[in-house]
Amino acid sequence: MTTLQQAEAADHAQIEELDRLVIVKSVVYTSGERDPRAPLPRPPDQGKRYLMGHDPRLPRMPDKPTLFDFFRYRFGPAAHMLQSARLAQKNGASEKIVLACLLHDIATSGFIRADHGYWAAQLVEPYVDAEVTFAIRYHQVLRFYPDESVGYRYPDSYLRLFGPDFKPDPYVERAYQHARRHKWYMSARLLTVNDLYAFDPNVRVELDEFTDVVGRHFRQPEEGLGFDESPSAHMWRTIMWPTRYL
Ligand SMILES: [Fe+2]
Ligand SMILES: [Fe+2]
Repeated sequence: MTTLQQAEAADHAQIEELDRLVIVKSVVYTSGERDPRAPLPRPPDQGKRYLMGHDPRLPRMPDKPTLFDFFRYRFGPAAHMLQSARLAQKNGASEKIVLACLLHDIATSGFIRADHGYWAAQLVEPYVDAEVTFAIRYHQVLRFYPDESVGYRYPDSYLRLFGPDFKPDPYVERAYQHARRHKWYMSARLLTVNDLYAFDPNVRVELDEFTDVVGRHFRQPEEGLGFDESPSAHMWRTIMWPTRYL
């Protein structure tokens, strides 16, 4: 078989597999586009099975996935996080802050946008130092509040995205006040200082540059992320298998 024939055969097998499966979207995928209270229209499912594992439309992940496997197979383009981590390094930040920069937006790039700092913090909490989790959790709220002492201004992009009248919700304000008084305030603040948006599309930063930092500060579970019974293992599994019926 030629390479082209092999690719065609693989495509064909995938179409056949999809034909035998019912794949249902979680409510959170569609809530807003449709009213979540309305019953879900049932797809025709005679003789079909509901998907309970790997989604054939997605690249298959290794049996014991690592953090970098999630970057490679499930997260969107990571240039923003990689450039932010490199900037932190250039600015002489500690390795923990560099790691926080590398991970800070994994929720927006691979999971859920709303409250992304909290989701990302929860995902990595069992595997990193508490200071890293703190910085990731609170970067989201600190972005809305300037800090002259480190030259951090309210982002111009937020003016464009949310309008000049936008005010953070009271729970964001409370979280900000909490972070402000916390011993790790500056760790979270440094993350916002190195959280670059206007990143240069011509600068390429490779994941491998951070192999050592991750090796030293991210406790990669032997069983693979998702299979280690940690409090966030199920969240990693959901990212890996987002369309499982149960
Ligand atoms: Fe962020
Ligand atoms: Fe960011």
